[in-house]
Amino acid sequence: MSTERFKGKSILITGGAGGLGSQIARSVVAQGGKVGILDTNVSAIQALVSELTAGGATAAGARVDVRDANSVDEAVSELAKALGSVDVLIAAAGGSLGTPRDLDDISEADFDLVLDVNVKGTFNCSRAVIPYMKKAGGGSIITFSSIGGRSASPVTGVPYATAKAAILGLTRRLAKEVGEFNIRVNAIAPGLFLTDRLEGMFNEMSKSDQSEVINAIPLGRMPKLQECVDPVLFLASDESSYITGTVLDVNGGRLMPN
Ligand SMILES: NC(=O)c1ccc[n+]([C@@H]2O[C@H](COP(=O)([O-])OP(=O)(O)OC[C@H]3O[C@@H](n4cnc5c(N)ncnc54)[C@H](O)[C@@H]3O)[C@@H](O)[C@H]2O)c1
Repeated sequence: MSTERFKGKSILITGGAGGLGSQIARSVVAQGGKVGILDTNVSAIQALVSELTAGGATAAGARVDVRDANSVDEAVSELAKALGSVDVLIAAAGGSLGTPRDLDDISEADFDLVLDVNVKGTFNCSRAVIPYMKKAGGGSIITFSSIGGRSASPVTGVPYATAKAAILGLTRRLAKEVGEFNIRVNAIAPGLFLTDRLEGMFNEMSKSDQSEVINAIPLGRMPKLQECVDPVLFLASDESSYITGTVLDVNGGRLMPN
């Protein structure tokens, strides 16, 4: 991929210090873009920003809890100043966040946490970047759904399924509202991608459970992280300039919705 693809573009990544977010950040800078990392994990932000700037990239970070709209607004303003503009938001902060899968084990606080980080966080961050994108004459927002929000996945529980389905409604409605400003909003819905955090979990599964997971994937193998990063960056780039309000399933064929 061209090292000029994102030249002059500033790309904010929430959850940018995490497994997928950090890999996306590395690819953005390899393709000429500037990155702003928003995350709660201060040491991981610092390590990533140091790594990227040491390689000559323009990168900055801000500690922010995406649930808090005021902090999000401040962080986005700070990063817009540091980077010069905001052209793309990749809203990856989210997940099951260590909450239990089974109904009897899920507390009200667990449900609120998963809904707030995934849904309200995506709302807060999208709303915060839109004025900057309007000023820039357009932009692209990529939200993070999941195969667990597109189907009744056995891996994750009700709060995650609820949140990741809600993100699809948010994506479509927002796309309708901001299209006139040349701002596109699309969701990505990954299957299982083995980040460092999830790899340990997968490796601890029995060989037969691992085979069951893999046999359900028509492509017959687990993906590389880059196979999620590249579709995200397609939605971030001008190559998808007439695509908005849609969801891109990236799951090796495990789910083939109509
Ligand atoms: N990895 C997968 O298989 C997979 C599959 C489907 C969807 N997804 C989605 O992709 C996104 C990224 O997943 P990942 O695997 O990289 O997860 P991850 O846990 O490695 O990264 C998530 C990042 O979000 C940050 N974060 C958590 N709460 C936050 C908050 N309140 N404010 C700001 N940052 C916060 C964490 O510190 C972490 O760095 C998530 O939305 C997840 O649901 C992942």
